[in-house]
Amino acid sequence: MSKNTKLSAWVEEIRTLCQPDAVRWCDGTRAEYDEMICVMLASGTARKLNDSKRPNSILVCSDPADVARVEDRTFICSKSKDAAGPTNNWHDPEEMKQSLRELFTGSMRGRTMYVIPFSMGPVGSPIAHIGVQISDSPYVVANMHIMTRVGQAVLDVLTDGDFVPCLHSVGAPLENGAADVPWPCNADNKYIVHFPETREIWSFGSGYGGNALLGKKCFALRIASAMARDEGWLAEHMLILKLTNPQGVSRYVAAAFPSACGKTNLAMMNPTVPGWKCETIGDDIAWMKFGDDGRLHAINPEAGFFGVAPGTSMKSNPNAMLTLKENCIFTNCALTPDGDVWWEEMTDDPPPRLTNWMGHEWHPHAEAHAAHPNARFTAPARQCPVIAPEWEDHNGVPISAILFGGRRATVVPLVHEARDWQHGVFIGSIMGSEKTAAATGAIGMVRRDPMAMLPFCGYNMADYWAHWLSLGQRDGVVLPKVYYVNWFRKDKDGKFLWPGFGENSRVLKWVFERCEGTADATETPIGYVPANGAMDFDGLAVPPARLEELFRIDIEGWLAETIGVRDYYRNFDDHVPQALLEELDNLKARLEAMI
Ligand code: OXD
Ligand code: MN
Repeated sequence: MSKNTKLSAWVEEIRTLCQPDAVRWCDGTRAEYDEMICVMLASGTARKLNDSKRPNSILVCSDPADVARVEDRTFICSKSKDAAGPTNNWHDPEEMKQSLRELFTGSMRGRTMYVIPFSMGPVGSPIAHIGVQISDSPYVVANMHIMTRVGQAVLDVLTDGDFVPCLHSVGAPLENGAADVPWPCNADNKYIVHFPETREIWSFGSGYGGNALLGKKCFALRIASAMARDEGWLAEHMLILKLTNPQGVSRYVAAAFPSACGKTNLAMMNPTVPGWKCETIGDDIAWMKFGDDGRLHAINPEAGFFGVAPGTSMKSNPNAMLTLKENCIFTNCALTPDGDVWWEEMTDDPPPRLTNWMGHEWHPHAEAHAAHPNARFTAPARQCPVIAPEWEDHNGVPISAILFGGRRATVVPLVHEARDWQHGVFIGSIMGSEKTAAATGAIGMVRRDPMAMLPFCGYNMADYWAHWLSLGQRDGVVLPKVYYVNWFRKDKDGKFLWPGFGENSRVLKWVFERCEGTADATETPIGYVPANGAMDFDGLAVPPARLEELFRIDIEGWLAETIGVRDYYRNFDDHVPQALLEELDNLKARLEAMI
């Protein structure tokens, strides 16, 4: 229970609205976690994995209608549509609350209402913030235990302070003792709703991932981005890694990539450059506030990894695989006959027989996937073999460099450095990924995903750029250097020019040495690229001609890019900061001077 009167009043209001059979305040203990697992085993939601293969772990398979984040059902309800901007679904907050109140009325009948006090970031850290999630899902409680810090310690720190109320229901009341289903949800009525002005989240109808674990995308990005704007900090879709050189000097780098560009792999990479060490602070979200030294200090607000399982293997990400050895929740993975999980690309050859995520017999020649492509693992971050010892430091880690990157088959070189902060913000605002044959739309068309925040910015994206720019105007700050990286440039035959994975440490080494002031760079119209000999290619099996292509400045391609960016900026009308329009004009002029 809490002495916070706002919290007690809110819990009582929601109990009256949702009419659960019981209310339970979560204490975050191991006993509570075990109890949630037992509840899920008893209801058929989860099955226990073989303890000799995957100790203390479960597999949960969701309803096929509830397998991913639902961006078209995600709303930003600010008072004005303009404040949400053209990249968000907007709805009037009063009207939305009215419809939601109707949906939530009686939505927890027959279920227990869990009250989950959680801290995003180490409890009591000046960079952390507190939320309280109400949910009728034991799956959510167990996941929140891993992904956040839950329990009494949070209430002790909260006292009468502020918290973000996060209301969640799967929207499947059990009337008059009706039997439950393994994965209750309300497939036709999903609403993931954010009220940035009042800092509230209401989520209805889905039990899956980012729709239901409200600390992650909903709080730590959409609501926190609005808080950060108001309070002068940054809430970003970024991994944080620690890089240590052979002399034992460490620097911290934050990096933003759109979903499915290898963020978790980069965060846990084993560097190929001899003597260099890479450790993980976080794999998905960074909160950065200014320290007394004028530098941005970052924490990972999460306590676990909620990663995409397919594609993860001892080859692509051995440190993730080792993190998953025990104490995990697997969702929508396939089940092996001996009670372990499997997903596509986990091993070179799939096991001869499996039960797929839908519960059907599966064999290697089957057409359908064994695991859902968005199958997930929930794993405690502390289990990662390369987690940095300081990953829970209350004051965060000072960020030396920020990387922006996307999947670009053409035009964008392996790495270039921004000319200054303003140019860095420009680079972040234009980043994106080319559509592949798998996606709808013309191949090669760029889907812009500014700062990798397209689905996650809780207010007008152009105002968000203005906020980034405003940090550069502050007195006494020492801002990180900014880089644009592209691991995905291809040759004329469509083959990747760069091997990626551990070899990305060569790029990180140059970035590190630029921050130290010991590596040279050459100025080009798009920014600074490594000077001849400044990047370490020792022992790399990539022929010089391919390296040249990797770094080629494609003047025509960049000029076409400026046209695309101008078109993109038009979506934001007069919200686009003048400084970014100037950056665009200057880039164009520098490119034209080369022809
Ligand atoms: C994620 C995402 O799940 O970015 O982290 O979609
Ligand atoms: Mn993400």
